[in-house]
Amino acid sequence: MVVVAILAAGKGTRMKSNLPKVLHSLGGKSLVARVIKCVEPLIPLRKLVIVGYQSSQVKSAINADDVEFVEQTVQLGTGHAIQQLLPHLQNYDGDLLILNGDVPLLRTETLKNLLEIHQTNQNACTILTAKLANPHGYGRVFCDDHGVVQKMIEDKDCTALERENNCVNAGIYCFRWSNLAQVLPHLQANNAQKEYYLTDAVTQVGKVMAVNVSDYQEILGINDRLQLANANDILQQRIKEKWLLAGVTLIDPASITIDESVQLESDVIIEPQTHLRGNTVIKSGSHIGPGSWIENSHIGENVTVFYSVITDCIVNQDTRVGPYAHLRGHAEVGNGCRIGNFVELKNTELGDRTNVAHLSYLGDTVTGTQVNVGAGTITANYDGIKKHKTIIGDRTKTGSNSVLVAPITIGDDVYIAAGSTVTEDVENNTLVIARSRQVVKPGWKQKNQE
Ligand code: UD1
Ligand code: MG
Repeated sequence: MVVVAILAAGKGTRMKSNLPKVLHSLGGKSLVARVIKCVEPLIPLRKLVIVGYQSSQVKSAINADDVEFVEQTVQLGTGHAIQQLLPHLQNYDGDLLILNGDVPLLRTETLKNLLEIHQTNQNACTILTAKLANPHGYGRVFCDDHGVVQKMIEDKDCTALERENNCVNAGIYCFRWSNLAQVLPHLQANNAQKEYYLTDAVTQVGKVMAVNVSDYQEILGINDRLQLANANDILQQRIKEKWLLAGVTLIDPASITIDESVQLESDVIIEPQTHLRGNTVIKSGSHIGPGSWIENSHIGENVTVFYSVITDCIVNQDTRVGPYAHLRGHAEVGNGCRIGNFVELKNTELGDRTNVAHLSYLGDTVTGTQVNVGAGTITANYDGIKKHKTIIGDRTKTGSNSVLVAPITIGDDVYIAAGSTVTEDVENNTLVIARSRQVVKPGWKQKNQE
């Protein structure tokens, strides 16, 4: 039986940011959301998040029904933060797993191991430690030969000699709650930061064991932007290794970024300078990049995307996009289409084998199949107040530089002459010429200028 508490009330002064530290994003997810996700497989009895600095912002960002928030209105240290739990866990008799909201690379397996060791050894407290090449900034943990913790000292309170100990406190603890609850009210703030340290409680609760984490990267804490950037590198490395081993080709992986939430299939090729964000799915055989941004989009099989930006869209199989196309606002492109250079699609559905090859804007448009949208065709979808729809039937061809003034419906097999501004609906099988007739005046120069 375990309750989880996550410390997320601090401002994070060292981030030098208006945004609370725990809301800074790592791989598309906030630091605190990552910590919450990591504990979910443990199926805790309760998840308590301690909030304080800009608490309403933190609460609405977390926005989960199964998370309870506990307010720490002034931030007087990690021990003070845990003191706020006392009224919420009055009759609780199990273990309390405490995590820092700024330690986002932790793995669930590591927590499972910590809990198991805690329970089989019947410890009063079990803490996670790591040996760091550069322990600067972390609290140091001093153990005897059996891994029993003797003392814990914060970096700022260490002597020069104590600072040489590279065994650090990860900020992850499992306490028998009844023991901790007795000690908490008696914490003192006799230290360099004048704060109530949770670490002071550790050595007062009874038998305390340290569990050393095998991969030190898991416990890296984020206190400043440099540490955030380093954590991002580590996370990207993890994500890319996973996809490389799953059969995805990444060309120049260092220049590519992939959110953890992205799904790729084998035989996808990602070229340099490509960024995949949010709930993006890319199916087998697709070739993405170089120089592309794809966010919250579904890319079907054997699609090519070349130097393009796609957000919130669906691109179906065998379609070619780019270079320099912009698809946004829930556009859906059919199978075997071609979206060429300098084309923007917004909230538009294209039927199969439709081409929009050059210099077009289609907004709020639905086309049939095998439509050819000529170079420079524009849908005038906005009258200054409202957006209107354009509908184009199967096999219709719009001439270069046509303007289709919405709302408008163009039938099947229609031909629109180049340079037309079409303002009225057009029937099937029609040729439309909506431009002024060419006027030719032979010998005009001699007559007017001599
Ligand atoms: C803390 C530990 C240190 C450990 C390190 C690991 C203490 C005293 N020190 O130091 O031993 O090596 O984490 O990363 O615990 N918070 C609150 N309320 C407060 C203060 C902090 O909720 O009043 C939250 C912060 O939002 C943060 C977490 O507690 O998520 C840790 O606080 P932080 O100030 O980053 O502690 P560290 O100096 O990193
Ligand atoms: Mg910290």
